[in-house]
Amino acid sequence: MTSTLDDKAEAAIEQFNTSSQYHPPTGYSGPLWQIKNDYPGPFGTYATPGDAPGLPLPDVPVEHPWTKIDFKTKEGALQYADMVKDYCWEGNRSVDFVVQKNTVRPWFHAPWMHASANGREPLKGLTYERSIPPGEFASTQRSALQNWAIGFYNAPGTVVFKLLLTTATDEEVPTMKGSPAWKAVIAQQLSPLVTPSTALIRNDYASDVRLIQVDWATVDNRSPIGWVFGTFMYDGTLENIDDPWDRLTTVGLTWGNDPQLTQAAVDKGQKPVQSWINPAAEKLRKTLDGARPSWGYNGRLNGPADNFISACASCHGTAQSFDAPLVQPGKLVELPPAPGDEKKKKKWVPLNERLTMTWFENVKAGEPFSHRGALSADYSLQFTIGWSNYNTWSKTWKIQLQEKQEAQEAREKNQIIPLKTTLLALPTRRIVFRPPKGAEEDPEKLQALLDSIQIEDVPKRAGPEFDWS
Ligand code: HEC
Repeated sequence: MTSTLDDKAEAAIEQFNTSSQYHPPTGYSGPLWQIKNDYPGPFGTYATPGDAPGLPLPDVPVEHPWTKIDFKTKEGALQYADMVKDYCWEGNRSVDFVVQKNTVRPWFHAPWMHASANGREPLKGLTYERSIPPGEFASTQRSALQNWAIGFYNAPGTVVFKLLLTTATDEEVPTMKGSPAWKAVIAQQLSPLVTPSTALIRNDYASDVRLIQVDWATVDNRSPIGWVFGTFMYDGTLENIDDPWDRLTTVGLTWGNDPQLTQAAVDKGQKPVQSWINPAAEKLRKTLDGARPSWGYNGRLNGPADNFISACASCHGTAQSFDAPLVQPGKLVELPPAPGDEKKKKKWVPLNERLTMTWFENVKAGEPFSHRGALSADYSLQFTIGWSNYNTWSKTWKIQLQEKQEAQEAREKNQIIPLKTTLLALPTRRIVFRPPKGAEEDPEKLQALLDSIQIEDVPKRAGPEFDWS
């Protein structure tokens, strides 16, 4: 049995089974979130007799009702999205997404998502996501919003979905009216205008976070990238729908990055053909009158909580063993105000167009984003983060263990000791660079491009932080 395991393996198993490294609020006695990580066995096996079957072999096609729907038509897209959502809600919605209680089919959480500063909070297993800067989503949105999320995986024929919850109020974001709330232990936020860059310091109380966005991704071999991504936004105008968890409007679907859609093409009036945006969602976005110019980059798909300079398939295409920057480098520049318009406008300008377009290639499922010996994480960024957290842990586990013991002893003596950085270290990002097409022909130009990249240009996990004031 485990007697042959060394200390490190034992410590790793303990981490693997850790749900959250943050404490519930003082005096809290309600339920705590628990990770479900009893994943199915390897391809085609049964772990022990009576157990769930292992994963089907990769060449065994898995039929889902939506695999027969043409997602490239408007009716098809809406139908596809609704079918996926029903599938994700089935057996989960009624148990408040405590997947252990789902009697319809098994769902799992991603491992190692607890082990960083932004890692899982204790009540709902939520991780800290990109914040929405003031004014970005709605003109009435004065505060910087914290967003918290949890993802769920199933197998076979993989379907993934992710619930995103926000601190937005109805007053600031009118579409949030009636949105369902969860209690979660979120990050300490000292000013309403600025969210902390990491969630290292948590409150000692639970706050309401409310549903803003539901992301999903399905394996679909009709897609050039092997996946179809889609997203819903919570839509308070659908108040005639009784269950608030069903008040969801499809923002759109995407099955590729539109690699040909350069800035020059956009300037000539070309539109993405591998993203479909629902006109109803477009209308909601415009009614809110926020500063975001589109859902995703140059009209590609992205959701309300996501960075408009990126897109679902672009950011997820970076999922691999080397930490790749999730979004292309660039910055916001102020535009001269239009005559008679007092409002200062800003435009996001990429550092380099060719470099940018490497983020919008159609990376095939299973292929890495950068070709420097990286292993693909097949569009799963939760897995990428968990993997990265594991690597950080693996290098620092001894010190971490020692710090944990010290913290435990201090707690027993009612002393407060400062949080240690090694325990909660965010994985560092390295520059990975995939040479653009034709780079071999022009080594000097390529070198100049490489030289022009500064470490400061490498965006943080969720991209540069914007100031809309
Ligand atoms: C700028 C980067 C970025 C963009 C854009 C983005 N995501 Fe993600 N997404 C992430 C990260 C990082 C995670 C993992 C961390 C987490 O869930 O807390 C994630 C997690 C997910 C998950 C859970 C499974 C997984 O792959 O890790 C799904 C499903 C998902 N996103 C769908 C979408 C959809 C749909 C869109 C577009 C509407 C989108 N994402 C846009 C960064 C991004």
